[in-house]
Amino acid sequence: MAALGAGMGAALLSACGRGEAATGAIAPLKSHAPFPLGVCAMTAQMGDPQWAAMIATHFDRLTPEWEMKMEYILQPDGSLRFDAPDRIVQQARNYGQSVLGHTLIWYAQDGDYFQKLKGNRPAFEAAYRAYIRDVMTHYIGSVDGWDVVNEPILDDGSDLRDCLWREVLGDAYIDIAYQAAHEADPACPLILNDYNLEYYPAKRKRFLSLVEGMLTRGVPLHVLGTQTHIAADLPRGAIRETLRDLAATGLKIHLSELDISLKEAAKNALDFKDYRDAQHALYEEAAEAYAALPSAQQFGLTIWGLRDKDSWYNRKDRGLIADEPLLFDDAGQLKPVGQAFVKAL
Ligand code: G3I
Repeated sequence: MAALGAGMGAALLSACGRGEAATGAIAPLKSHAPFPLGVCAMTAQMGDPQWAAMIATHFDRLTPEWEMKMEYILQPDGSLRFDAPDRIVQQARNYGQSVLGHTLIWYAQDGDYFQKLKGNRPAFEAAYRAYIRDVMTHYIGSVDGWDVVNEPILDDGSDLRDCLWREVLGDAYIDIAYQAAHEADPACPLILNDYNLEYYPAKRKRFLSLVEGMLTRGVPLHVLGTQTHIAADLPRGAIRETLRDLAATGLKIHLSELDISLKEAAKNALDFKDYRDAQHALYEEAAEAYAALPSAQQFGLTIWGLRDKDSWYNRKDRGLIADEPLLFDDAGQLKPVGQAFVKAL
């Protein structure tokens, strides 16, 4: 679809008052963004016709929410399965969308296969390199970037996280991963992705120190991912400051997993009325601050889910009330926060 002018798109959106969801046809969200607008996806959602139609209409890029991770791909015997992520890649291809590879090495997932090798460093490193090589080789030409290492820094910024990879390979596990990734696909943009960089300046400082060291050592690193899983009580300006600090490296920036929880902000309150304006302002800040980056550094902006009911927040523990962290409501209507986000792009 030809990109509608932002003005026209905003006009289509402004027909609805601030307090109500946009009803009827709205311009594709991606038509308002001069950079790739992404969303996470999983095969379990593909059978939902509204989900499939909206994903195809509004977004340029899909990030597999979990099925391109070690937890899905790596089997206990070391074999690899690609059926589900291949379906996501095929759906994206059908709709002219790109796919972001998420993620190769993560402290949170290592698998029995690697656990059994941890007493034998040469065998472990060979298997580590082979996993990265084989997964990336399978997707050469199908993805427009890879989160090679995900979430390496402790929240207090004091050090790298402890994990199986660091236990066996030392701090070098990160450099080794990026070198293996670059050997597998020299043309692929390699991303370092983390979260809470806006909440914790000390974590952001340690993350940037890791980045500086990698670049100084000549490690192939091209994009920085800041997940931006935030709550509506995040102080204003933190997103803008974080993007500014990351962009100062000169690398491309991926705002990679944006959602803004009301429930996390409201704690145990049974309604979100005191936090809706803050959520609105934070979605505007994220859009404005990202759109203000130099276009050469705009790798893309990804929302971590389509409708509120699709959010990981509403899968992990529903509790008494559902969270409302995303741009579209459960009926698939663009919420006021979604309208604000789009207008600010
Ligand atoms: O759908 C299957 C179900 O069929 C099966 O019976 C069940 C058995 O365990 O698993 C279900 O899949 C779960 C999937 O979410 C869908 O709900 C996986 O177990 C579960 O591990 C997976 O969790 C994902 C999590 O990462 C771990 O991979 C979340 O969806 C996903 O939102 C979350 O995303 C992470 C990013 O990758 C990194 N940044 C933080 C973000 C939120 O935690």
